[in-house]
Amino acid sequence: MPSFHMEVYGCQMNVRDSQHLEGILLSSGYEKAERPDEADAILVVTCAVRERAEVRALGRATQLAGGTRGRKPLVVICGCVAQEHGENLLKRFPQIDLVVGPDTYHRLPEMLSSGSRAALVEQGTDDYEALPSVRDTFPRAFVTITRGCDNFCSYCIVPFVRGRERSRTPEAILEEVGELVEAGYREITLLGQNVNSYRSGEVSFAGLLDRVARAAAPAWVRFVTSHPRDFGGELAEVMAEHPNVCRAVHLPAQSGSDAVLKGMNRGYTRGSYLEKVLMLRGRMPGIVLSTDMIAGFPGESEADFQDSLSLLAEVRFDYGFLFRYSERKGTRAAEMPGAVPVPERLSRLHRLQELQNAVTREKSSLLVGRCLPVLVTGPGTHEGQLIGRTAGNRVVVVHEGGVSAGDFMDVRITRADGWTHYGEKV
Ligand code: SAH
Ligand code: SF4
Ligand code: F3S
Repeated sequence: MPSFHMEVYGCQMNVRDSQHLEGILLSSGYEKAERPDEADAILVVTCAVRERAEVRALGRATQLAGGTRGRKPLVVICGCVAQEHGENLLKRFPQIDLVVGPDTYHRLPEMLSSGSRAALVEQGTDDYEALPSVRDTFPRAFVTITRGCDNFCSYCIVPFVRGRERSRTPEAILEEVGELVEAGYREITLLGQNVNSYRSGEVSFAGLLDRVARAAAPAWVRFVTSHPRDFGGELAEVMAEHPNVCRAVHLPAQSGSDAVLKGMNRGYTRGSYLEKVLMLRGRMPGIVLSTDMIAGFPGESEADFQDSLSLLAEVRFDYGFLFRYSERKGTRAAEMPGAVPVPERLSRLHRLQELQNAVTREKSSLLVGRCLPVLVTGPGTHEGQLIGRTAGNRVVVVHEGGVSAGDFMDVRITRADGWTHYGEKV
């Protein structure tokens, strides 16, 4: 039987799509290789969001292309870099055999068997619901609710590589959720580039979440990513009504400066962002909030950057994903004047990191002594250890027998180390 080795980069969307890729390959007669250098086909599922992500994934692909034992594997580039560069990848890299965009994964088996080098990156032809998939994240599962993005934040390549936003029907989503809960899954994460703009006929995201929360209970429900502009009171209300909807929202601010937010085309101001934070904390005290921030967007002055620092200080996010701005060809920001020199972007990034790391540690240490429900996700690295997650998505390590993946248990936190916590069962 021919075998494959797959490596996945990028966001949860790629993770979920790669489960479909695996399902497609297994059902067309491939098996998983024990080791990369034994595989007949190498798949690299790539991310294009920042230049470094792109370079790293392509570097890894060309490294794996060497093969060993006197035979060369077929090298397949999937994901967002495939969509971005298409055929050009075949010209630039003689080691690459196939280029397959996210909407054409169902065509992979025929491409593999044809034996010729090819690129297939048509958009909008996906029918993911019909594709087989393999889930390997028990008891946690991703359920895609929208694909693509229409926001065109000026720095971002996602709308170009993932195409226009389309929403699945509530019926299809609820059916998938029902099957997962039936199979014992205990955490459902609804996925989309901007989940709040979900719409299918009369059903908004708030309406969908309400139905999913009912169908999933007692399983936990999360969702990523929320766009601050589209996060309304009705959604907060639905969250507050359902105890199994995790009190955790990833609400990327990107910047704390109104001028920069305008240039980014984010559609909100610092003031309206802060109002949403107040609303969420007012309705759900203790809610876990996280953010993404970009340092060194074109035209960002030192004063603008200070506004980003002060936003972090004011909100005190539980966690932050912090990036330095990276030009992406074809986006509006790549054409904007006022480029911030790369060393300055890096230095600003470090200043954001320093502040956020301190806040993250402080907020984590506040949990010591508290008792929290934890979903057990699997064994830890050491004998007798279990790993779990809190509703706030914090990692918890516990020494405890008698429970297994998919069980909920109450844990008293005894020690915190960044995002990882240690505790004992109560
Ligand atoms: N749809 C999601 C995820 C987008 S990509 C969202 O809107 O939040 C994840 C993060 O990467 C973004 O939130 C942003 O902070 C960052 N990002 C996107 N494009 C970038 C770029 N060109 N340079 C640096 N960071 C970028
Ligand atoms: Fe990119 Fe903005 Fe869409 Fe997020 S919402 S994927 S940052 S364009
Ligand atoms: Fe990257 Fe594509 Fe996700 S560009 S962030 S893997 S949608």
